[in-house]
Amino acid sequence: MIHLKTDKEIYEMRKAGELTYQLLDLVGQMIKPGVSTLEIDKMVHGEILNSNAFPGTLGYRGFKHSCCTSVNDVICHGIPSDYRLKEGDILNVDISPRLNGWYGDSSRMFTVGEVSDTANKLISTTETALIGAIQCVRVGDNLSEIGKGIEAVIFSISNFSIVEDYVGHGIGRSFHEDPAVFHYNRPTGVKFQKGMVFTIEPMINEGTKEWIMLDDGWTVKTKDGLLSAQMEHTIAINSKGDVEVISLP
Ligand code: MF3
Ligand code: CO
Repeated sequence: MIHLKTDKEIYEMRKAGELTYQLLDLVGQMIKPGVSTLEIDKMVHGEILNSNAFPGTLGYRGFKHSCCTSVNDVICHGIPSDYRLKEGDILNVDISPRLNGWYGDSSRMFTVGEVSDTANKLISTTETALIGAIQCVRVGDNLSEIGKGIEAVIFSISNFSIVEDYVGHGIGRSFHEDPAVFHYNRPTGVKFQKGMVFTIEPMINEGTKEWIMLDDGWTVKTKDGLLSAQMEHTIAINSKGDVEVISLP
């Protein structure tokens, strides 16, 4: 069941979305060689609490941290640890604070010092795919336009692959709501409607789309050990049918 939101509710959700943007900016300011992903998590945890919000991932199905930190070949759900970033690393930081009962959810890529041309291309292609997908959102059209839009970008400018088994999602008073948002062209019975709020969060791999899960039960890595990138925004369709990216200020 899709929980449609009023404009007033979207206004409240925008505050959680803006908080994700500010937190990701703060993460960007601390990224440098030698910083551990746990130090990033500690900063994010403190700033979320300071903002009178709560980290949506903390305690979620046993996850013990306030953000996900996915480095290099980690596709998603990387667990903050004592791993120290080094020159050439790329990482995604994914933050989902709950503010006044509403969840925000956004993630961004960061680079540590100079990174390879391939890494830069993977990141820029992922961002282009997300922007392209957002432009495919139109009331009355099928949700599958998102996946078509991502495929159009990825396959026209790269040999990269799209991870299929992890999806975007409706979001609101719950972290994950209907519908599932596929990042590849998969038919669905869902049409974009006024009041829908959902994430788009494509995961793009340098090589194969196949993945493995580590024994920790969370970390999802590329099967071939090549790089992966992800970017996530939260999108709302208001009562006029306008499409708003609410994880931006
Ligand atoms: N932002 C991710 C999502 O959209 C975060 C997953 S959180 C985790 O689902 F707790 F499951 F790791
Ligand atoms: Co999400």
